[in-house]
Amino acid sequence: MKYHIWTVGCQMNVADSAKLGAGLERLGFEAVADAGSADVVVLNTCAVRQGAEDRAVSKLGRLKKLKARRPEMTVALMGCMVGQRTADLQKRFPYVDVFARPQHFDDILLALGSDPAQLGGEFWPETVSEPQGQLAYVPVIEGCDKFCTYCIVPLRRGRERSRPRDEVVHEVAALVRRGVREVTLLGQTVEAYGHDLDGRPDLSDLMGAIHSLPGLERIRFLTSYPPDMTDRILEGIAQLDKVCEWFSLPVQSGDDAVLSAMRRGYTVAQFRDRIAKVRSLMPQAGITTDIIVGFPGETDAQFASTYRLLEELRFDKVHVAMYSPRPGTFAWRKLEDAVPEDVKKERLRAVEHLQERIAGEINRGLFGTTQPVLVEGRGERDGRLFGRTRSGKLVHFEGTAAAGAVIEVRISHTSPWSLSGEVAVPAPAT
Ligand code: SAH
Ligand code: SF4
Ligand code: F3S
Repeated sequence: MKYHIWTVGCQMNVADSAKLGAGLERLGFEAVADAGSADVVVLNTCAVRQGAEDRAVSKLGRLKKLKARRPEMTVALMGCMVGQRTADLQKRFPYVDVFARPQHFDDILLALGSDPAQLGGEFWPETVSEPQGQLAYVPVIEGCDKFCTYCIVPLRRGRERSRPRDEVVHEVAALVRRGVREVTLLGQTVEAYGHDLDGRPDLSDLMGAIHSLPGLERIRFLTSYPPDMTDRILEGIAQLDKVCEWFSLPVQSGDDAVLSAMRRGYTVAQFRDRIAKVRSLMPQAGITTDIIVGFPGETDAQFASTYRLLEELRFDKVHVAMYSPRPGTFAWRKLEDAVPEDVKKERLRAVEHLQERIAGEINRGLFGTTQPVLVEGRGERDGRLFGRTRSGKLVHFEGTAAAGAVIEVRISHTSPWSLSGEVAVPAPAT
């Protein structure tokens, strides 16, 4: 039996797809690159914005045709497009055989006539995905309790649940044995890790527990949520040398009234304080953020505050999105999506433009320096090696080095999006 999984959305979805794939393989299924030749096709979907849903819907249109030709094929719709009630989805997509909420892998296995009990329970602790290379994602806390007014994630992924520390350690150790050199610990608000566990270990305790695993070279983590990012966690991280100085810390808006309407749970001043703490402990830290433009009622002046904050804090990267009303959220029910589309687009472009300049300047500052890079592989198009700096910057470079090695690269060219250079101390060829 052959399976094909198509994934959109965040790293959590990528990790979920890997886990499902690992479970299917333990049950004897084999992965195929082409949906047309698969016995089961799974769409792992995202609903964070309308655009993400539209992509899944267009994919479903193609699957409908395949299914008409091969009715014996199983089509599964998984992930954040699937809520508690599926009647509407069933009506829209009658050719879909099974709807599974995020991580409800068992529903898919049952539809295939397999017994999920063979795989060891809810988080499938015994099912570790086969790594695709040197890097792996490891979810450590599932769900989200924050209920920002615009966001569908808590509605689709449920309440926060931390995975037991030993289970995470076990999974990371298994991944490292299979060649993984860098893990990224995942959570929607990753610093909330442990608040629901006995002894209340925090994220830095968890990192301390995996830090000693031989062969593990780097640890990353995302996404950070400012109020959960305690001094204790930051100070702990700063002392663990495998933990990379790289933060994904969404601010969403630079205006207090908008932050409050979003129910983000912090003010601009509190956010600034977190950035200052990170930079005081780790001056070389790479910091990325997320921004929503055109939130209901966002005025020109409020947007200008966001723009100024980006100029002031100088992030390495900014993910900017236009507000998209999400059915079921507070903002969708109570706040009119009043900012016109063209104004949203204008604000989006303004942020992109500003950020291109800032990232260009920051990266130019790295010209001529030597950076340790974890080699991920060779680019298919240009044949050059590539990898990332500790601060999360993509580097393409010339030379010889084995995938998984950490080598020194001299930066000889920079752009707002990436760096390039050559191996500074040639590594022995493999
Ligand atoms: N947990 C993370 C991010 C989760 S969603 C956090 O707290 O920030 C990823 C990003 O999608 C968010 O950071 C936000 O910028 C964007 N996003 C979420 N809901 C959105 C919506 N309704 N419209 C536009 N962008 C949205
Ligand atoms: Fe969504 Fe807010 Fe939770 Fe992030 S913290 S997932 S934006 S509700
Ligand atoms: Fe999308 Fe769900 Fe992630 S909505 S961003 S796939 S948590």
